Amino acid sequence: MIHAEWICIVDFGSQYTQLIARRIRELGVYCEIHPFHLALDVMRANLPVGIILSGGPSSVYETDAPHIDGSVFELGVPLLGICYGLQLIALHHHGAVDPAAHREYGKAELRLDNQADLFNGVSQDTTVWMSHGDSLSRIPDNFEVIAHTPNAPICAIRNAGKKQYGVQFHPEVVHSVEGKTILSNFIYGICRAQGGWNPRSFIEQAIEEIRETVGSERVICALSGGVDSAVAAVLLHEAIGAQLQCIHIDNGVMRKNESAQVVETFRDEFHIPLKFVDATDLFLDRLAGISDPEQKRKIIGATFIDVFEKEASEFRDAAFLAQGTLYPDVIESVNFKGPSATIKSHHNVGGLPERMNFRLIEPFRELFKDEVRNVGRELGMPAHILDRHPFPGPGLAIRVLGDIDRPRLDLLRDVDEVYLDEIRKAGEYDNIWQAFAVLLPVKSVGVMGDARTYEFTVALRAVTSIDGMTADWARVPYNVLERISNRIINEVRGVNRVVYDISSKPPSTIEWE
Ligand code: XMP
Repeated sequence: MIHAEWICIVDFGSQYTQLIARRIRELGVYCEIHPFHLALDVMRANLPVGIILSGGPSSVYETDAPHIDGSVFELGVPLLGICYGLQLIALHHHGAVDPAAHREYGKAELRLDNQADLFNGVSQDTTVWMSHGDSLSRIPDNFEVIAHTPNAPICAIRNAGKKQYGVQFHPEVVHSVEGKTILSNFIYGICRAQGGWNPRSFIEQAIEEIRETVGSERVICALSGGVDSAVAAVLLHEAIGAQLQCIHIDNGVMRKNESAQVVETFRDEFHIPLKFVDATDLFLDRLAGISDPEQKRKIIGATFIDVFEKEASEFRDAAFLAQGTLYPDVIESVNFKGPSATIKSHHNVGGLPERMNFRLIEPFRELFKDEVRNVGRELGMPAHILDRHPFPGPGLAIRVLGDIDRPRLDLLRDVDEVYLDEIRKAGEYDNIWQAFAVLLPVKSVGVMGDARTYEFTVALRAVTSIDGMTADWARVPYNVLERISNRIINEVRGVNRVVYDISSKPPSTIEWE
């Protein structure tokens, strides 16, 4: 679905490309990211109202630096080059880039030489975020300088006639204090976008499209209880009502009462047709004696498909499978470092559609996670579903280290419940990306009353993160940790020691397995 009004972000590999997209959408205009070698074809097929050339890790003169054909400047569409994008403007218009004049990383003081169009309403002196090694040393033909910093005399340029602009700094980063105004000036003032992209308009359009695609067929949706599948189910239900059939599978490695809550919320509150399948025995039988984390993941993934296939075959007339795939999974990301090594194979329901002859429905293929949450809010879904921490597909199986059995899972479920209860009571839940407990295959000595104990150790993990790719351990206040530890040791039999994980990612990962 490319919208009539859209902004095309051409990706040259910047770590901030997705951030540009999020900012533009927050401002109410739909945008898509396309890699530099494909973007022109997409734009020619459906002309955007504006083009943004992203930053990137390369230097424009490097031999294998990414390039875009100069015809991008002749489409008659307003254009903004950011950082590397600015340097591409220079390359195509006889400017010059000096690779190592003054390297600049971090905050810089920008002074405006012209406060019109792009800088309309921006203070003459404003703080911006720089992250580059190259800067312009000659002004491109037909461009003029509109801002400078002490180190970059040509920091922002424009060709007002052609509505082409370039900035050396990153307006999409929050440290660029007036960055949002600058982006807003570009999309509304310069591109003349109408706006109106918001969760409500998304929902209306998505409902129409779902109805058109599905017709009178039935749709099956695997409802895990996570945010993405939950919002997908509610949206689909709005669109096609009883033609939707959800299936929730208890794989035996969920949190305490999780399945009961899913059933209660979706069947009883949202009145969504939901089949509940308790497959605990099958999953735990297959996991018995398995201690290798990757093997646990594979078994859970394969067993899920087996169970789902069997259950879904009862609904023979279903033609579609709904999935909560998000935009970051879809973007063909430009990666100059080659394919990144698979550190952990992440379980998802991929592979199902091919095996089962389903057609796929993925209503959130173009949304970021926070947009899905906003759609959920607009659909009237409660915060306790929308603001949940991410929970991995293999669940507690990768949090009971080593061999898994029912008593250990039950013990961890009890610990986890106390932990999250206290985190919520302390008002820390929403400050944390993920908080969970890990049961270690380690027993240690303790003393309770007058008796010596020899019991399990649990590790508590809480991290802050933007996207799960990097993370820091959360500074949970000592008094909260104290309460958590006391309650766990007093209330959960079998645990006599609690430790707090203070490692960041990298070099550690968020999960322990
Ligand atoms: P790591 O442990 O790799 O985790 O730092 C990053 C994020 O991914 C989640 N995670 C998984 N999610 N299946 C999933 O669906 C998995 O196998 C899996 N392993 C890790 C993890 O909880 C964190 O949010």
